[in-house]
Amino acid sequence: MVRQYRNTIINQIRGLGLILLLLGMFACPGTNPAGVVDMPGVDKLPDIKELPDPFVMNDGTRVKNKTDWAKRREEIKAMMLYYQYGHIPPAHKNIIAKELSSETVYDGGATKKHILLSMGPEREVKINVGMVIPKGEGPFPVILKNDRGIFNVPIADEIVRRGYIVADYARTDLDPDQKNTVGPAQAAYPDYDWATLAVWAWGGMRVIDYFMTLDVVDKERIAFTGHSRGGKTALLAGALDERIALVVPNGSGCGGAGCYRFQGEKSETLERITAPERFEYWFHPRFRDFADKETKLPFDQHFLKAMVAPRAMISIDALGDLWANPYGTQQSHRGAQPVFEFLGADDKLGIYFRAGGHAQKEDDWRTLVDFADKVFFEKMPASGRLFCQLPFPNAPQPFSWSVPRGK
Ligand code: GCU
Repeated sequence: MVRQYRNTIINQIRGLGLILLLLGMFACPGTNPAGVVDMPGVDKLPDIKELPDPFVMNDGTRVKNKTDWAKRREEIKAMMLYYQYGHIPPAHKNIIAKELSSETVYDGGATKKHILLSMGPEREVKINVGMVIPKGEGPFPVILKNDRGIFNVPIADEIVRRGYIVADYARTDLDPDQKNTVGPAQAAYPDYDWATLAVWAWGGMRVIDYFMTLDVVDKERIAFTGHSRGGKTALLAGALDERIALVVPNGSGCGGAGCYRFQGEKSETLERITAPERFEYWFHPRFRDFADKETKLPFDQHFLKAMVAPRAMISIDALGDLWANPYGTQQSHRGAQPVFEFLGADDKLGIYFRAGGHAQKEDDWRTLVDFADKVFFEKMPASGRLFCQLPFPNAPQPFSWSVPRGK
């Protein structure tokens, strides 16, 4: 009798342990990772109609110099991860890279390699990486893309001929892009509240960890791109990781280079993108609280762009891609410009629109490489392309603040 009672108790404790383990594994919204303090909920935040001032510190004072900006950048990062994307784990210390294949391509002009990275507490997080490396000693600058698979860059041969390593990784290895699903990365790091976009961005940062170990890579010249949801991922990774010298969100729109307060016709809104039947799982659950309350956001996407400064970034979009909010992309560009100016990097912020619709077309790749040539090597494009297009000249000035003077 006593023994039976004791066994029942033991089973109950085991059951409780299992429940706690499961709760831990399937990250509970509302539970912050260690060290993350709660910020005010939507109802406690002030209403800000214009693009918020990135230069106002949390204590109400205004940024005066670069040291202040470094502090402010950390505040912005904390806020954007807390409300929008969730928090990511630190870098894995010992990533293992296995070369699965290597072949000569482009008539001997390059080597194409398929690499498998593995990491995580039990090495259960794997990332497939494709690299096409120009012939020669290097080191070569890199253009890294996040996608669903690898070897997906349409004019890789041309880009390699221009002297760049073309690389891509399969972001879906980290998170399969399905609602109500815990992907391999989230399962491996249950103490973090990161949503899908943050997982994909973290994966790109781990690929860059691997690049840092390669002599053939020019560590000062790494560009990171992606299209659409991949463009949102590229911008987030570029904002967080200062090893990324050039950030190129392509067709990224809502949650990317578009902004929430200024919406062009037929563009995707915060409410639409975070709808439970759509892409709520790309974001931290608390981001949905701001649906139809965008003016309560203490930031807008120009803050994410501003985090890139003084490194380089260009958003590349299509004027016919209304869903991706070209108008709002122009407005967030204008909102980020003062920060680039403040840091003496005005020429590092680009914006480019082509005619047509939602895709990362060959022309977009050429724009990307032309801009990379300019910011990496001060080479002006033979194409004569200009990198500062503001196609909505009548758009209202989206803010009333200005660049702090007297640095
Ligand atoms: C949907 C989504 C967009 C996203 C796009 C894509 O259209 O609403 O936000 O950019 O998918 O990733 O293709």
